[in-house]
Amino acid sequence: METEYDKALSEIKEKCLKCHKCPLGETKTNTVFSGGVPNSKLMLIGEAPGYYEDMQGEPFVGKAGQLLDKILGCVGFSRKENIYICNTLKCRPPDNRDPLPDEKLACSEYLDAQVKILQPRIILLCGRVAVHSFIDTKLGITKIRGKWFEGPYFSKMMPIFHPSYLLRNDSREKGSPKWLMWQDIKEVRRVYDQLD
Ligand code: URA
Repeated sequence: METEYDKALSEIKEKCLKCHKCPLGETKTNTVFSGGVPNSKLMLIGEAPGYYEDMQGEPFVGKAGQLLDKILGCVGFSRKENIYICNTLKCRPPDNRDPLPDEKLACSEYLDAQVKILQPRIILLCGRVAVHSFIDTKLGITKIRGKWFEGPYFSKMMPIFHPSYLLRNDSREKGSPKWLMWQDIKEVRRVYDQLD
């Protein structure tokens, strides 16, 4: 049976799929609304769809997405079971350029609705663009990654590195971006396991 929750989510998704509030609605191939399971305690918010995501209509399916799945999988998180994944923008910016302020503003209706309807307990802000959509700070991601912040609807939010940054930094040595990501994801799992 369809619940109020399912109905609210499918209504906002339908609206998003038809959206032309910004010019990206004209240039995209597919809208990338979300992946993973809606009824999750854990939500991950990335930046915007890239080439492969735009082709397939799924978030994080390219190289960065494959690395992300590996990292999440190391602590037992998977999009089939326990995580909901979406992006700040639902349509691909041409040539993967940074989202423009007007595009973020136009798309915030959808992201805000996803957070309000799903009310995840933990929100992972993956990369600079997602961080700046929720946290008003001049500090770079290297300064605030791995720290907990109060999020909307009594959630806990943590900024984490974007996997494409990790792809450019291969070292696994102590203190390297990959090593720091490993500490962060273990901390997320620890707090997740304490949720009631
Ligand atoms: N990078 C993102 O931030 N999101 C995606 O869906 C793919 C790559």
